[in-house]
Amino acid sequence: MANLFVRKSIAALKAEAAVSGEHTLKRTLSAMNLVSLGIGAIIGAGIFVLTGSAAAQYAGPSIALSFVLGGVACAFAGLCYAEMASTVPIAGSAYTYAYATMGEFIAWIIGWDLILEYSLGATTVAIGWSGYVVSFLRDIGITVPASLASAPLAYDAVTHTWTQTGTLINLPAMLIIAIVTGLLVVGVQESANVNNIIVVVKVAIVLIFIVAGIGYVTTANWVTGANPEGKFIPPGTGEYGIFGFSGMVRGAAVVFFAYIGFDAVSTAAQEAKNPQKDMPIGILGSLIVCTILYILVAIVLTGVVPYDKLNVPDPIAVGIDALGMKWLAIPIKLGAIAGLSSVILVMLLGQPRIFFSMSKDGLLPAGASKVHPRFRTPYRTTIITGVVVMIAAGLLPIGIVGELVSIGTLFAFAVVCIGVLVLRIRQPEIERPFKAPVVYLTAPLGAISAVYLMAGLPMDTWIRLGLWLAIGLAIYFLYGMHHSKLGRQAQAED
Ligand code: ALA
Repeated sequence: MANLFVRKSIAALKAEAAVSGEHTLKRTLSAMNLVSLGIGAIIGAGIFVLTGSAAAQYAGPSIALSFVLGGVACAFAGLCYAEMASTVPIAGSAYTYAYATMGEFIAWIIGWDLILEYSLGATTVAIGWSGYVVSFLRDIGITVPASLASAPLAYDAVTHTWTQTGTLINLPAMLIIAIVTGLLVVGVQESANVNNIIVVVKVAIVLIFIVAGIGYVTTANWVTGANPEGKFIPPGTGEYGIFGFSGMVRGAAVVFFAYIGFDAVSTAAQEAKNPQKDMPIGILGSLIVCTILYILVAIVLTGVVPYDKLNVPDPIAVGIDALGMKWLAIPIKLGAIAGLSSVILVMLLGQPRIFFSMSKDGLLPAGASKVHPRFRTPYRTTIITGVVVMIAAGLLPIGIVGELVSIGTLFAFAVVCIGVLVLRIRQPEIERPFKAPVVYLTAPLGAISAVYLMAGLPMDTWIRLGLWLAIGLAIYFLYGMHHSKLGRQAQAED
């Protein structure tokens, strides 16, 4: 049982990185590159899709405030991620970091939990992608039958029951996962240039929407059947999280999804020219830009369409329609489709790398870390991830999946914040190219705000997280614990 808390030494991690060549990364990224990298990974289904359902179901117009709350929580966690990434600069992200700071058991839990962030994250964005593609095709005269383009399963958050929607499967969502998985097996590298172009397109369409709509915002659109006085925070229904202040908090927990991705900046710590100065600029810069854009989009969207009409797969398109600017709909949808594709790519790239690290450590079967002889990619984990995500994307409704991603990622954030603090106390001497400022304040606030947002999520989502972690524990005790390389080593030394 002592092995549960066996830790990898930072020196061992750095040695591993040197062997795999990660240590030799060139320091080429400027602060601007890092900001762009962050925005590329951040702007996606959160703003293009979930804003609508979160406003319609939980927060109403106060969804704008939800975005402020989510942004603040991310800023604290972001600083801790930057320190983590500059100290332990190895693929595997929070999993590796936990292995070094809190031991194998917590590392396993985080690795298992990150599946929610990456695999279900890709699932969520693929469902969003499908919504925009179907809507775009409709605009150019091609109708995809509803039975083939939306989830056959739905969940009613009020009655807590699963129902069948009568449709068959979400085919476009499955298709995009298949395409991206194929690309990743062959090893298409997302070059900085492609990323930069997509970032410009994404930011441009968000700005166009804001500029086109801001003049038409009226509080008259805040009025709905349930909010006859048109209040900014619609009156609560009595149930926790359904409108009222608690609805705004739940809205924040849901749209927190929109901020996920800034942790991608932290993985580039070793490639930053000047990490001490540029990492916080990259992380906080991309967060600030996105927070401002998100708040403005939320104000415009709920100001031009009554929020109860926003529970749709393509809310921004509904906003454009409401403005009567039909000609803008096609470019906006195309931009959203491109932007969502790049987020799916980043997530499906990250997941196999985490499995890869876990398999190298012996916590998953060794076969998983086999690299393709020709393409030099972790093709097995990529294909397994792709198949599972494809099935999930074909069957599940976006709201449920997105909430699970949010809770899973928030949980990982809390652990990373605590881990940063633990490592500062235990090993104050190790080299940290970037240090989170006032860490004794930043780290606890990061952990507390993550837990606060988690508390805003529905009980059903907590139960699902609990079930997921229970499955993970079973696998660890039945398999990982007995096959862990570090554990075996420790036993041999004993
Ligand atoms: N933040 C990313 C998105 O909203 C995950 O799609």
